[in-house]
Amino acid sequence: MKKTLVFKVSPKNPDVKIIREAADIIRKGGLVAFPTETVYGLGADALNAEAVLALFKAKRRPLDNPPIVHVGRFEDVYKLVREIPAKADILMKTFWPGPLTLVFKRSSIVPNVTVAGLDTIAVRMPKHNVALALIRESGCPIAAPSANLAGRPSPTAAEHVLEDLDGRIDAVLDAGPTRIGVESTVLDMTVHPPQILRPGGTPLEALEGIVGKVELHPVAVAEKRLPVERARSPGMKHRHYAPKAKLIVVEGELSAVVKKITELVKRYREQNMKVGVLATDETANLYGADVVKSLGSRSHLDVVARNLFRLLREFDVEGVNIIIAEGVPTQGLGLAIMNRLRKASGYRIVKARI
Ligand code: TXA
Ligand code: MG
Repeated sequence: MKKTLVFKVSPKNPDVKIIREAADIIRKGGLVAFPTETVYGLGADALNAEAVLALFKAKRRPLDNPPIVHVGRFEDVYKLVREIPAKADILMKTFWPGPLTLVFKRSSIVPNVTVAGLDTIAVRMPKHNVALALIRESGCPIAAPSANLAGRPSPTAAEHVLEDLDGRIDAVLDAGPTRIGVESTVLDMTVHPPQILRPGGTPLEALEGIVGKVELHPVAVAEKRLPVERARSPGMKHRHYAPKAKLIVVEGELSAVVKKITELVKRYREQNMKVGVLATDETANLYGADVVKSLGSRSHLDVVARNLFRLLREFDVEGVNIIIAEGVPTQGLGLAIMNRLRKASGYRIVKARI
């Protein structure tokens, strides 16, 4: 166990002294969790193999699942990649800094462990003053997976980071809750057309508006477990985002979903289970479960995304035996929300019909 330092910082104007102290830890090969606009990341010097190895260990992350490498300036991308395809260049100019990760062919200066032995590298520039200040002050690209233990819901607040990693990392920069709440979209630029490996904070529709056709990898849809060999993004084959209780997602037309969930609640309560429902503002008062939590209004999927991981963690505290979650339509941010819910459920997906 080490002592994990907690530094409170302003999200808008982080104190330079604190950023310097955190950057110093990164430069010395240490691990610092920091906020981004999506979720908190656990950072290490991406070019220091030992530091990155320690990062995998702290998270108990399988070594075949590489982290995203974060940069603070556009020019920092050039030394990490072999080429920047024209479409990637436009996307960077349009969406960076922001919740979009691009996969490139990687250069030889990147240690093998940072890319899990792959010939490619995932890079993004986060849109958060604390993240940008830390990366720039460190003077190195920062490898940062989400700052949770492998398999757990991603952290959207410093408290979640400490729940999972207190005593396992050197420091956390606490700048309050994150704005987007689901991770960045991972887009593979080494194939034509570009392919979404993980839907996230930048919707498919927004990408297509800039570069035309974008494909969706079947694992990005996450409607069912796929054979391991089809999992091109290594993270695809591991269990993810899971709360402690078993989770079921019910999808379909809203009235059918409400009816199905009502049925399931009744059935599980008859088995003496403590039942939680992850609902929305429009439906939350319709359920007679032990615990009902609302993600927000269905007409504000940005709010639903922001609340998702926090509420999954809150159900752990409630000690429910089962969580039944409402699905949302897969347009815009809905695709990322459903990807996380389906994976969190271990693909226990119920299609509700009238
Ligand atoms: O919003 C985010 O992306 C957050 C914040 C901290 O930036 N980071 C994050 O990192 O979610 P992580 O490591 O939890 O997820 C990285 C995802 C994984 O699904 C991984 O498999 C994929 O990116 N990935 C990383 N390198 C890749 C590569 N070379 N090719 C394909 N997928 C890759
Ligand atoms: Mg993660």
